[in-house]
Amino acid sequence: MLFNDLRDWIAGVEKMGKILRVSKADRDKEMGTIYEIVARKLKKSGVSILFDDIPGFAGHRCLFSTYDDPEIISATMNFSLVENYSTLDVVRAYKEKIRAVSPIPRKVVETGPVMENVERGDDVNMLQFPAPLLTEFDGGRYLGTDHGVIMKDPDEGWVNVGTYRMMAQDKKSISLFISPGKQGQVIRKKYLDRNLPCPVAVTFGHSPLLSLVFGTETPNGICEYDYAGGIKGEPIEVIEGPETGLPIPAHSEIAIEGYCIPGDNAPEGPYPEWPDYYGSSSRSEPLVRVKSIMYRNNPILLVSHHVRGICFFRSLVRSALHWAELESLGLRDIKGIWRYEEGGTREFNVISIKQRYYGHARQILHLFSQVPAGAYAGRWDIVVDGDIDPSNIKDVVWALSTRCDPAKDISFIERARSTPLDPLVFDKEKNYYNSRALVDACIPYEHLGDFPRPIGASEEYLEETYKKWQHLWA
Ligand SMILES: Cc1cc2nc3c(=O)[nH]c(=O)nc-3n(C[C@H](O)[C@H](O)[C@H](O)COP(=O)(O)O)c2cc1C
Repeated sequence: MLFNDLRDWIAGVEKMGKILRVSKADRDKEMGTIYEIVARKLKKSGVSILFDDIPGFAGHRCLFSTYDDPEIISATMNFSLVENYSTLDVVRAYKEKIRAVSPIPRKVVETGPVMENVERGDDVNMLQFPAPLLTEFDGGRYLGTDHGVIMKDPDEGWVNVGTYRMMAQDKKSISLFISPGKQGQVIRKKYLDRNLPCPVAVTFGHSPLLSLVFGTETPNGICEYDYAGGIKGEPIEVIEGPETGLPIPAHSEIAIEGYCIPGDNAPEGPYPEWPDYYGSSSRSEPLVRVKSIMYRNNPILLVSHHVRGICFFRSLVRSALHWAELESLGLRDIKGIWRYEEGGTREFNVISIKQRYYGHARQILHLFSQVPAGAYAGRWDIVVDGDIDPSNIKDVVWALSTRCDPAKDISFIERARSTPLDPLVFDKEKNYYNSRALVDACIPYEHLGDFPRPIGASEEYLEETYKKWQHLWA
Protein backbone atom coordinates (compact mmCIF):
# COMPACT_ATOMS: atom_id res chain seq x y z
CA MET A 1 0.00 0.00 0.00
CA LEU A 2 1.36 3.44 -0.89
CA PHE A 3 -0.33 6.31 0.91
CA ASN A 4 -0.15 9.72 -0.73
CA ASP A 5 -1.66 11.76 2.01
CA LEU A 6 -3.37 11.60 5.38
CA ARG A 7 -6.80 10.90 3.89
CA ASP A 8 -5.55 7.84 1.96
CA TRP A 9 -3.90 6.62 5.13
CA ILE A 10 -7.06 7.01 7.22
CA ALA A 11 -9.05 5.05 4.60
CA GLY A 12 -6.42 2.26 4.57
CA VAL A 13 -6.10 2.04 8.35
CA GLU A 14 -9.87 2.14 8.80
CA LYS A 15 -10.07 -1.06 6.73
CA MET A 16 -7.67 -2.60 9.26
CA GLY A 17 -10.19 -1.69 12.01
CA LYS A 18 -7.84 0.81 13.58
CA ILE A 19 -9.80 4.08 13.36
CA LEU A 20 -12.31 5.11 16.00
CA ARG A 21 -14.63 7.97 15.00
CA VAL A 22 -15.82 10.30 17.77
CA SER A 23 -18.18 13.26 17.32
CA LYS A 24 -18.76 16.31 19.48
CA ALA A 25 -15.88 15.88 21.95
CA ASP A 26 -14.54 19.15 23.33
CA ARG A 27 -11.00 20.08 22.32
CA ASP A 28 -10.16 21.16 25.88
CA LYS A 29 -9.04 18.05 27.78
CA GLU A 30 -11.90 15.84 26.51
CA MET A 31 -10.25 14.72 23.25
CA GLY A 32 -6.92 14.12 24.99
CA THR A 33 -8.52 12.16 27.81
CA ILE A 34 -10.63 10.00 25.49
CA TYR A 35 -7.44 9.13 23.62
CA GLU A 36 -5.63 8.33 26.89
CA ILE A 37 -8.46 6.04 27.99
CA VAL A 38 -8.39 4.15 24.68
CA ALA A 39 -4.60 3.81 24.66
CA ARG A 40 -3.78 3.32 28.33
CA LYS A 41 -6.87 2.05 30.14
CA LEU A 42 -8.37 -0.05 27.32
CA LYS A 43 -4.87 -0.89 25.95
CA LYS A 44 -6.07 -0.63 22.33
CA SER A 45 -2.71 -0.34 20.68
CA GLY A 46 -2.57 1.29 17.30
CA VAL A 47 -6.09 2.76 17.36
CA SER A 48 -6.16 6.33 16.05
CA ILE A 49 -9.16 8.53 16.84
CA LEU A 50 -10.78 10.82 14.29
CA PHE A 51 -12.67 13.60 16.06
CA ASP A 52 -15.29 15.54 14.09
CA ASP A 53 -18.13 17.95 14.87
CA ILE A 54 -15.78 19.56 17.36
CA PRO A 55 -17.83 22.18 19.25
CA GLY A 56 -17.01 25.64 17.89
CA PHE A 57 -15.03 24.27 14.89
CA ALA A 58 -17.52 23.30 12.20
CA GLY A 59 -15.84 21.66 9.22
CA HIS A 60 -12.62 20.90 11.10
CA ARG A 61 -11.38 17.50 12.22
CA CYS A 62 -8.55 16.23 14.42
CA LEU A 63 -6.82 12.88 14.00
CA PHE A 64 -5.18 11.68 17.21
CA SER A 65 -2.75 9.47 15.39
CA THR A 66 -0.83 6.50 16.62
CA TYR A 67 1.61 4.26 14.85
CA ASP A 68 2.06 1.92 17.81
CA ASP A 69 1.28 -1.22 15.90
CA PRO A 70 3.62 -3.33 13.74
CA GLU A 71 1.02 -3.83 10.97
CA ILE A 72 0.32 -0.11 10.75
CA ILE A 73 4.02 0.67 10.62
CA SER A 74 4.69 -1.86 7.89
CA ALA A 75 1.70 -0.59 5.84
CA THR A 76 2.87 3.01 6.31
CA MET A 77 6.47 2.11 5.44
CA ASN A 78 5.45 -0.14 2.58
CA PHE A 79 7.21 -3.31 3.76
CA SER A 80 5.91 -6.79 4.55
CA LEU A 81 6.24 -8.68 7.78
CA VAL A 82 7.12 -12.35 8.17
CA GLU A 83 4.48 -14.55 9.77
CA ASN A 84 4.57 -14.91 13.58
CA TYR A 85 6.97 -12.00 13.80
CA SER A 86 8.70 -10.97 17.02
CA THR A 87 9.41 -7.37 18.04
CA LEU A 88 12.99 -7.86 16.89
CA ASP A 89 11.80 -9.11 13.46
CA VAL A 90 9.98 -5.80 12.97
CA VAL A 91 13.03 -3.80 14.04
CA ARG A 92 15.15 -5.83 11.62
CA ALA A 93 12.66 -5.34 8.75
CA TYR A 94 12.65 -1.59 9.38
CA LYS A 95 16.44 -1.50 9.60
CA GLU A 96 16.80 -3.43 6.33
CA LYS A 97 14.36 -1.08 4.65
CA ILE A 98 16.24 2.06 5.66
CA ARG A 99 19.68 0.51 4.99
CA ALA A 100 18.56 0.05 1.39
CA VAL A 101 17.18 3.57 1.04
CA SER A 102 18.64 5.97 -1.48
CA PRO A 103 17.08 9.40 -1.09
CA ILE A 104 14.86 10.51 -3.99
CA PRO A 105 14.77 14.30 -4.42
CA ARG A 106 11.42 15.95 -3.73
CA LYS A 107 9.38 17.13 -6.73
CA VAL A 108 8.24 20.75 -6.84
CA VAL A 109 4.71 21.10 -8.23
CA GLU A 110 2.82 24.31 -9.04
CA THR A 111 -0.10 23.67 -6.75
CA GLY A 112 -1.76 21.00 -4.61
CA PRO A 113 -4.69 20.38 -2.26
CA VAL A 114 -2.99 22.41 0.50
CA MET A 115 -3.61 25.53 -1.62
CA GLU A 116 -7.40 25.13 -1.65
CA ASN A 117 -7.47 28.01 0.85
CA VAL A 118 -4.66 30.56 1.17
CA GLU A 119 -4.82 33.44 3.64
CA ARG A 120 -2.13 36.07 4.06
CA GLY A 121 -1.35 39.23 5.97
CA ASP A 122 -4.30 40.58 7.98
CA ASP A 123 -6.43 37.55 7.11
CA VAL A 124 -4.16 35.18 9.01
CA ASN A 125 -5.99 33.61 11.95
CA MET A 126 -4.40 30.57 13.51
CA LEU A 127 -7.15 30.35 16.11
CA GLN A 128 -9.54 28.96 13.51
CA PHE A 129 -7.91 25.51 13.96
CA PRO A 130 -8.99 23.28 16.89
CA ALA A 131 -5.62 23.12 18.69
CA PRO A 132 -6.34 20.90 21.73
CA LEU A 133 -5.51 21.33 25.39
CA LEU A 134 -4.27 17.77 25.84
CA THR A 135 -4.36 17.56 29.63
CA GLU A 136 -5.43 19.85 32.45
CA PHE A 137 -1.76 20.46 33.35
CA ASP A 138 -0.63 21.78 29.95
CA GLY A 139 0.57 25.35 29.60
CA GLY A 140 -1.62 25.98 26.55
CA ARG A 141 -3.23 24.57 23.45
CA TYR A 142 -0.82 22.77 21.16
CA LEU A 143 -1.30 23.08 17.41
CA GLY A 144 1.96 21.32 16.58
CA THR A 145 2.46 17.83 18.03
CA ASP A 146 2.66 15.54 14.95
CA HIS A 147 3.80 18.07 12.38
CA GLY A 148 6.87 19.06 10.40
CA VAL A 149 8.86 22.26 10.95
CA ILE A 150 10.69 23.16 7.74
CA MET A 151 13.84 25.32 7.77
CA LYS A 152 16.74 25.82 5.38
CA ASP A 153 20.35 25.80 6.57
CA PRO A 154 21.63 29.29 5.65
CA ASP A 155 25.20 28.08 5.05
CA GLU A 156 24.76 24.70 3.45
CA GLY A 157 21.42 25.27 1.70
CA TRP A 158 19.80 21.94 2.64
CA VAL A 159 16.28 21.75 4.04
CA ASN A 160 15.61 20.10 7.40
CA VAL A 161 12.18 18.99 8.62
CA GLY A 162 11.60 17.94 12.24
CA THR A 163 8.78 17.60 14.75
CA TYR A 164 9.19 20.17 17.54
CA ARG A 165 6.21 21.12 19.66
CA MET A 166 4.33 24.33 18.90
CA MET A 167 1.97 26.07 21.32
CA ALA A 168 -0.71 28.36 19.93
CA GLN A 169 -0.31 31.91 21.25
CA ASP A 170 -2.66 34.20 19.32
CA LYS A 171 -4.05 34.73 15.82
CA LYS A 172 -0.67 35.38 14.28
CA SER A 173 1.92 33.76 16.50
CA ILE A 174 2.89 30.33 17.76
CA SER A 175 5.86 29.27 19.90
CA LEU A 176 8.41 26.69 18.85
CA PHE A 177 10.34 24.56 21.38
CA ILE A 178 13.37 22.73 19.97
CA SER A 179 15.68 20.79 22.26
CA PRO A 180 19.35 21.86 22.30
CA GLY A 181 21.48 20.21 19.65
CA LYS A 182 18.65 19.13 17.34
CA GLN A 183 19.35 19.99 13.72
CA GLY A 184 16.39 22.37 13.73
CA GLN A 185 17.80 24.23 16.74
CA VAL A 186 21.26 24.49 15.16
CA ILE A 187 19.79 25.91 11.94
CA ARG A 188 17.51 28.40 13.70
CA LYS A 189 20.41 29.60 15.86
CA LYS A 190 22.54 30.31 12.78
CA TYR A 191 20.01 32.94 11.69
CA LEU A 192 19.28 34.39 15.14
CA ASP A 193 22.98 34.66 16.08
CA ARG A 194 23.49 36.78 12.95
CA ASN A 195 20.51 38.92 13.94
CA LEU A 196 18.55 37.67 10.92
CA PRO A 197 14.93 36.46 10.86
CA CYS A 198 14.70 32.70 10.43
CA PRO A 199 12.14 31.66 7.78
CA VAL A 200 9.96 28.77 8.98
CA ALA A 201 7.19 26.75 7.33
CA VAL A 202 5.13 24.10 9.11
CA THR A 203 2.91 21.26 7.87
CA PHE A 204 0.24 20.11 10.34
CA GLY A 205 -1.27 17.10 8.57
CA HIS A 206 0.40 14.85 6.00
CA SER A 207 1.04 11.23 5.15
CA PRO A 208 2.14 9.41 8.33
CA LEU A 209 5.21 8.17 6.44
CA LEU A 210 6.38 11.76 6.76
CA SER A 211 5.50 11.76 10.47
CA LEU A 212 7.69 8.70 11.03
CA VAL A 213 10.59 10.41 9.30
CA PHE A 214 10.11 13.95 10.72
CA GLY A 215 9.93 12.72 14.34
CA THR A 216 12.99 10.47 14.36
CA GLU A 217 16.70 10.96 13.83
CA THR A 218 17.31 11.04 10.09
CA PRO A 219 21.04 11.30 9.26
CA ASN A 220 22.44 14.84 9.39
CA GLY A 221 22.42 16.83 6.18
CA ILE A 222 19.78 14.72 4.40
CA CYS A 223 16.42 16.37 3.73
CA GLU A 224 13.61 14.36 5.31
CA TYR A 225 11.45 14.72 2.17
CA ASP A 226 14.15 13.09 0.05
CA TYR A 227 14.67 10.36 2.64
CA ALA A 228 10.91 9.68 2.80
CA GLY A 229 10.81 9.67 -1.03
CA GLY A 230 13.49 6.97 -0.95
CA ILE A 231 11.38 4.88 1.43
CA LYS A 232 8.22 5.42 -0.63
CA GLY A 233 10.00 4.75 -3.91
CA GLU A 234 8.75 7.96 -5.50
CA PRO A 235 9.36 11.66 -4.87
CA ILE A 236 7.38 13.58 -2.27
CA GLU A 237 5.46 16.36 -4.01
CA VAL A 238 5.96 19.82 -2.53
CA ILE A 239 4.83 23.32 -3.37
CA GLU A 240 6.99 26.35 -2.72
CA GLY A 241 5.46 28.42 0.08
CA PRO A 242 4.19 31.78 -1.23
CA GLU A 243 5.86 33.66 1.65
CA THR A 244 9.20 31.92 2.22
CA GLY A 245 9.66 29.68 -0.81
CA LEU A 246 10.24 26.77 1.60
CA PRO A 247 9.02 23.37 0.36
CA ILE A 248 5.67 22.29 1.85
CA PRO A 249 3.97 18.94 1.13
CA ALA A 250 1.46 19.59 -1.67
CA HIS A 251 -0.99 17.23 0.04
CA SER A 252 -0.67 18.79 3.48
CA GLU A 253 -3.90 19.44 5.37
CA ILE A 254 -2.77 22.70 6.98
CA ALA A 255 0.46 24.67 6.56
CA ILE A 256 1.79 27.99 7.79
CA GLU A 257 4.77 30.17 7.04
CA GLY A 258 6.42 32.86 9.08
CA TYR A 259 9.61 33.94 10.82
CA CYS A 260 11.41 33.59 14.13
CA ILE A 261 12.80 37.03 14.96
CA PRO A 262 15.89 37.50 17.19
CA GLY A 263 14.85 38.10 20.82
CA ASP A 264 11.14 37.60 20.09
CA ASN A 265 10.16 35.01 22.71
CA ALA A 266 7.13 34.17 24.86
CA PRO A 267 6.31 31.77 27.72
CA GLU A 268 5.78 28.18 26.54
CA GLY A 269 4.88 24.89 28.28
CA PRO A 270 4.56 22.78 30.31
CA TYR A 271 3.70 19.91 28.00
CA PRO A 272 3.32 16.12 28.57
CA GLU A 273 6.73 15.04 27.33
CA TRP A 274 8.36 11.77 26.30
CA PRO A 275 10.06 10.98 29.67
CA ASP A 276 6.46 10.75 30.96
CA TYR A 277 6.74 13.92 33.06
CA TYR A 278 5.89 17.56 32.57
CA GLY A 279 9.62 17.94 32.03
CA SER A 280 9.92 21.65 32.66
CA SER A 281 7.53 24.37 33.66
CA SER A 282 6.78 27.39 31.52
CA ARG A 283 9.91 28.85 29.88
CA SER A 284 10.58 31.56 27.35
CA GLU A 285 10.86 30.13 23.82
CA PRO A 286 11.07 31.67 20.33
CA LEU A 287 7.88 32.64 18.54
CA VAL A 288 7.03 32.17 14.89
CA ARG A 289 5.25 35.27 13.56
CA VAL A 290 2.87 33.85 10.97
CA LYS A 291 2.46 35.59 7.62
CA SER A 292 0.59 33.04 5.57
CA ILE A 293 -1.65 30.01 6.12
CA MET A 294 -2.94 27.39 3.71
CA TYR A 295 -5.36 24.55 4.24
CA ARG A 296 -7.49 21.98 2.48
CA ASN A 297 -11.26 22.14 2.64
CA ASN A 298 -12.43 20.44 5.88
CA PRO A 299 -8.86 20.16 7.11
CA ILE A 300 -7.68 17.43 9.45
CA LEU A 301 -5.26 18.52 12.18
CA LEU A 302 -2.83 15.69 12.99
CA VAL A 303 -2.24 15.33 16.75
CA SER A 304 0.18 13.15 18.69
CA HIS A 305 -0.65 12.78 22.37
CA HIS A 306 2.04 11.13 24.42
CA VAL A 307 0.56 8.68 26.89
CA ARG A 308 2.56 7.21 29.78
CA GLY A 309 4.66 4.15 28.85
CA ILE A 310 3.31 3.88 25.29
CA CYS A 311 5.53 4.74 22.37
CA PHE A 312 6.12 1.50 20.49
CA PHE A 313 6.63 3.27 17.18
CA ARG A 314 9.40 5.49 18.52
CA SER A 315 11.10 2.50 20.15
CA LEU A 316 10.91 0.60 16.92
CA VAL A 317 12.07 3.36 14.59
CA ARG A 318 14.83 4.58 16.91
CA SER A 319 16.09 1.03 17.46
CA ALA A 320 16.19 0.47 13.69
CA LEU A 321 17.90 3.79 12.95
CA HIS A 322 20.45 3.14 15.69
CA TRP A 323 21.18 -0.33 14.33
CA ALA A 324 21.47 0.97 10.75
CA GLU A 325 23.86 3.71 11.82
CA LEU A 326 26.16 1.32 13.70
CA GLU A 327 26.23 -1.03 10.72
CA SER A 328 27.02 1.87 8.42
CA LEU A 329 30.20 2.39 10.50
CA GLY A 330 31.27 -1.09 9.54
CA LEU A 331 30.26 -2.75 12.81
CA ARG A 332 29.04 -6.27 12.22
CA ASP A 333 27.62 -9.01 14.41
CA ILE A 334 24.87 -6.86 15.91
CA LYS A 335 22.01 -9.23 16.67
CA GLY A 336 19.45 -6.68 17.79
CA ILE A 337 18.71 -3.38 19.53
CA TRP A 338 15.77 -2.35 21.65
CA ARG A 339 15.16 1.09 23.13
CA TYR A 340 12.59 0.66 25.84
CA GLU A 341 9.28 2.54 25.78
CA GLU A 342 9.50 2.76 29.57
CA GLY A 343 12.72 4.74 29.12
CA GLY A 344 11.04 7.14 26.72
CA THR A 345 12.90 5.28 23.91
CA ARG A 346 16.08 7.10 24.93
CA GLU A 347 17.04 6.33 28.52
CA PHE A 348 17.21 2.53 28.62
CA ASN A 349 18.77 0.98 25.54
CA VAL A 350 20.03 -2.55 24.97
CA ILE A 351 22.16 -3.97 22.16
CA SER A 352 23.00 -7.64 21.65
CA ILE A 353 26.08 -8.83 19.79
CA LYS A 354 28.04 -11.93 18.87
CA GLN A 355 31.45 -11.26 20.44
CA ARG A 356 34.30 -11.85 17.98
CA TYR A 357 37.40 -10.43 19.68
CA TYR A 358 38.82 -8.94 22.90
CA GLY A 359 37.31 -5.50 23.51
CA HIS A 360 34.52 -5.99 20.98
CA ALA A 361 31.73 -5.54 23.55
CA ARG A 362 33.19 -2.30 24.94
CA GLN A 363 33.85 -0.90 21.48
CA ILE A 364 30.25 -1.47 20.48
CA LEU A 365 28.99 -0.19 23.84
CA HIS A 366 30.79 3.16 23.59
CA LEU A 367 29.67 3.72 20.02
CA PHE A 368 26.13 2.57 20.84
CA SER A 369 26.01 5.27 23.49
CA GLN A 370 27.45 8.14 21.45
CA VAL A 371 26.69 7.86 17.71
CA PRO A 372 24.20 10.56 16.62
CA ALA A 373 21.25 8.15 16.71
CA GLY A 374 22.01 7.30 20.35
CA ALA A 375 23.69 10.29 21.95
CA TYR A 376 20.70 12.40 22.95
CA ALA A 377 19.29 12.15 26.50
CA GLY A 378 20.36 8.58 27.22
CA ARG A 379 20.99 7.13 30.69
CA TRP A 380 21.48 3.34 30.61
CA ASP A 381 23.25 1.74 27.66
CA ILE A 382 23.66 -2.01 27.97
CA VAL A 383 25.44 -4.58 25.80
CA VAL A 384 24.46 -8.25 26.02
CA ASP A 385 25.42 -11.43 24.18
CA GLY A 386 23.59 -12.66 21.10
CA ASP A 387 21.64 -15.34 22.97
CA ILE A 388 19.83 -12.53 24.83
CA ASP A 389 16.84 -10.93 23.13
CA PRO A 390 17.31 -7.21 23.88
CA SER A 391 13.54 -6.60 23.62
CA ASN A 392 12.83 -9.19 26.32
CA ILE A 393 13.30 -7.54 29.71
CA LYS A 394 13.48 -10.93 31.47
CA ASP A 395 16.43 -11.94 29.29
CA VAL A 396 18.09 -8.58 29.91
CA VAL A 397 17.69 -8.76 33.70
CA TRP A 398 19.08 -12.31 33.65
CA ALA A 399 22.17 -11.11 31.76
CA LEU A 400 22.62 -8.16 34.14
CA SER A 401 22.26 -10.49 37.11
CA THR A 402 24.62 -13.21 35.96
CA ARG A 403 27.14 -11.81 33.47
CA CYS A 404 27.82 -8.30 34.73
CA ASP A 405 30.25 -7.66 37.58
CA PRO A 406 29.21 -4.12 38.57
CA ALA A 407 32.59 -3.04 39.95
CA LYS A 408 34.31 -3.96 36.68
CA ASP A 409 31.61 -3.73 34.06
CA ILE A 410 29.96 -0.36 34.58
CA SER A 411 31.65 2.80 33.41
CA PHE A 412 30.33 6.33 33.10
CA ILE A 413 30.30 9.26 30.75
CA GLU A 414 29.80 12.61 32.43
CA ARG A 415 28.61 15.88 30.91
CA ALA A 416 26.79 13.99 28.15
CA ARG A 417 24.14 15.51 25.90
CA SER A 418 20.74 16.02 27.50
CA THR A 419 17.75 18.35 27.46
CA PRO A 420 15.67 20.50 29.81
CA LEU A 421 12.99 17.80 29.47
CA ASP A 422 15.18 15.36 31.44
CA PRO A 423 13.64 15.21 34.95
CA LEU A 424 17.17 15.00 36.43
CA VAL A 425 18.34 18.19 34.71
CA PHE A 426 17.43 20.67 37.40
CA ASP A 427 18.81 23.84 35.83
CA LYS A 428 16.23 24.44 33.10
CA GLU A 429 17.98 27.47 31.62
CA LYS A 430 21.43 25.96 30.90
CA ASN A 431 23.71 23.04 31.84
CA TYR A 432 21.73 20.47 29.88
CA TYR A 433 24.09 17.65 30.79
CA ASN A 434 23.50 14.25 32.24
CA SER A 435 25.62 11.15 32.76
CA ARG A 436 25.54 7.76 31.09
CA ALA A 437 26.04 4.33 32.61
CA LEU A 438 27.66 2.01 30.10
CA VAL A 439 26.92 -1.49 31.25
CA ASP A 440 28.73 -4.50 29.86
CA ALA A 441 26.54 -7.53 30.58
CA CYS A 442 28.36 -9.86 28.19
CA ILE A 443 30.24 -12.96 29.28
CA PRO A 444 33.92 -11.86 29.51
CA TYR A 445 35.41 -12.70 26.12
CA GLU A 446 38.22 -14.80 27.65
CA HIS A 447 35.56 -16.93 29.42
CA LEU A 448 33.30 -17.62 26.49
CA GLY A 449 34.64 -21.17 26.38
CA ASP A 450 34.43 -21.96 30.10
CA PHE A 451 31.41 -19.95 31.27
CA PRO A 452 28.73 -22.14 32.89
CA ARG A 453 26.19 -23.53 30.46
CA PRO A 454 22.68 -22.10 30.87
CA ILE A 455 20.38 -24.80 32.24
CA GLY A 456 18.00 -26.78 30.08
CA ALA A 457 18.17 -28.82 26.90
CA SER A 458 19.92 -27.45 23.83
CA GLU A 459 17.77 -25.55 21.30
CA GLU A 460 18.44 -28.29 18.72
CA TYR A 461 17.31 -31.10 21.01
CA LEU A 462 14.24 -29.08 22.09
CA GLU A 463 13.27 -28.64 18.44
CA GLU A 464 13.85 -32.31 17.60
CA THR A 465 11.80 -33.44 20.59
CA TYR A 466 9.07 -30.90 19.84
CA LYS A 467 8.68 -32.36 16.36
CA LYS A 468 8.81 -35.98 17.50
CA TRP A 469 6.09 -35.48 20.16
CA GLN A 470 3.84 -33.22 18.12
CA HIS A 471 0.67 -35.12 19.08
CA LEU A 472 1.17 -33.92 22.68
CA TRP A 473 0.91 -30.22 21.73
CA ALA A 474 -1.86 -30.49 19.10
C1 LIG B 1 5.43 13.26 18.27
C2 LIG B 1 6.81 13.82 18.44
C3 LIG B 1 6.99 15.04 19.11
C4 LIG B 1 8.26 15.57 19.26
N1 LIG B 1 8.43 16.79 19.88
C5 LIG B 1 9.66 17.35 19.96
C6 LIG B 1 9.83 18.66 20.53
O1 LIG B 1 8.89 19.29 21.01
N2 LIG B 1 11.08 19.18 20.54
C7 LIG B 1 12.17 18.50 20.07
O2 LIG B 1 13.27 19.02 20.09
N3 LIG B 1 12.04 17.25 19.56
C8 LIG B 1 10.80 16.68 19.47
N4 LIG B 1 10.65 15.44 18.92
C9 LIG B 1 11.85 14.69 18.46
C10 LIG B 1 12.37 15.22 17.16
O3 LIG B 1 11.34 15.38 16.22
C11 LIG B 1 13.41 14.27 16.62
O4 LIG B 1 14.48 14.21 17.52
C12 LIG B 1 13.90 14.65 15.24
O5 LIG B 1 14.85 13.72 14.81
C13 LIG B 1 14.53 16.00 15.25
O6 LIG B 1 14.95 16.29 13.98
P1 LIG B 1 16.37 16.97 13.71
O7 LIG B 1 17.38 16.01 14.26
O8 LIG B 1 16.36 17.08 12.24
O9 LIG B 1 16.37 18.29 14.40
C14 LIG B 1 9.39 14.88 18.76
C15 LIG B 1 9.20 13.65 18.11
C16 LIG B 1 7.94 13.13 17.95
C17 LIG B 1 7.77 11.81 17.25
